Amino acid sequence: MDRQQQLRDAVGAFFEGPRDLDRLTLMSDDVEWWNGLGKFPAAPGKTVFVGKDEIGRLVLGRAPSPRQPNGRRVDRYDLATMKCEDVRVISEGDFVFRQHNYSATTMGGRDYENVYGFLFRFDADGLIDRIWEHWGTLQAWETLFQGPLAVTDFDLVLQTTPSVRKRLDLKRPVERSVIEECMNLAVHAPNGSNQQPYRFLFVDDHKRKQELADIYRGAMSDFIGRARTESPEDNIDRSGSQAQRIAESVAYLADHMQDVPVLCIPIVAGRTDGNAPGDQAERTSVFWQAGRWGSVVPALWSFMLALRSRGLGTAWTTLTLIREQEVAEVLGIPYEKFMQVGMFPIAHTIGLDFQITPRRPATEFIRWNDYRGEEI
Ligand SMILES: Cc1cc2nc3c(=O)[nH]c(=O)nc-3n(C[C@H](O)[C@H](O)[C@H](O)COP(=O)(O)O)c2cc1C
Repeated sequence: MDRQQQLRDAVGAFFEGPRDLDRLTLMSDDVEWWNGLGKFPAAPGKTVFVGKDEIGRLVLGRAPSPRQPNGRRVDRYDLATMKCEDVRVISEGDFVFRQHNYSATTMGGRDYENVYGFLFRFDADGLIDRIWEHWGTLQAWETLFQGPLAVTDFDLVLQTTPSVRKRLDLKRPVERSVIEECMNLAVHAPNGSNQQPYRFLFVDDHKRKQELADIYRGAMSDFIGRARTESPEDNIDRSGSQAQRIAESVAYLADHMQDVPVLCIPIVAGRTDGNAPGDQAERTSVFWQAGRWGSVVPALWSFMLALRSRGLGTAWTTLTLIREQEVAEVLGIPYEKFMQVGMFPIAHTIGLDFQITPRRPATEFIRWNDYRGEEI
């Protein structure tokens, strides 16, 4: 067989040879593999891999990949599911170039598709001694290396994290592992003296959720039936179409709260409403209030953003605080020691595309150097 055909066959085997073929046997001892990504967790920044050992370990993934600093692992594709289509092969001298459209399912069960162009150089013995791997690196990074992130653009996560109510997927369970992963990120938020004086209670037990949902609905009717004052929060204009849509969505959540896969009740140590025991009852000033809420809300919002980036939705609700003691009794929270932040339904969202949340522009809220002259 002529050398050109041999080299082309070696490239064919490299991609489509039997599963038990050790691809390292097609390479020379001092082989080099360039792939330009620089994102392998075990070798950050490295774009060229040298020698069979390094290539076997890092590129071909013989050893399980270590966790990335954010706790995620690379979601490798399952070789048993790979397919190469639209294969083009060109050879000349010691070089063979092959381009194909590669598709596979990842170990995490997601679809992966990418275009690869590989240039191979062979030595005199017909072994590969240099590989240049050209591929859609962004596509690979987002699908394989970022792990199961639904929204990878951080700015977009900030702009498109709405209060999800009607688009909470009530049928799809929420794995505890995703909650733990997001909490692992959330705990890095700032908090007073780094005491982390919070706890996050997650409820996935149906009976408990039913009890909490009943409290939520009871609190809602308390709120609707409350005595009104002149202040703005008692006089919100609900006649517009946007306000109507919110009201409909709020009613939907109230009706389905018990069906949401997980309800989260974050709490923070120390009461600032005067109901704390002993001397602590004095700690009601804005200083103490800001310190308490500021020690839980940043972590909570980080948690909600991390969920959103993974395709889960939440809604900030505070109505249960009207009946905070009832919730404390259901969950066994020592009421005199902890304040609740609210109740946060968590579910996968139906679809991942959300509009940018409608807000007035920042220019309306920014003041430089002086506030005087402002009408509230
Ligand atoms: C402090 C606070 C309390 C809230 N309380 C409730 C609530 O009890 N029930 C509810 O359905 N939504 C509640 N919301 C959600 C707001 O209605 C929602 O953020 C607002 O309408 C804007 O909608 P969007 O976030 O989807 O753009 C609350 C939000 C905040 C920040």
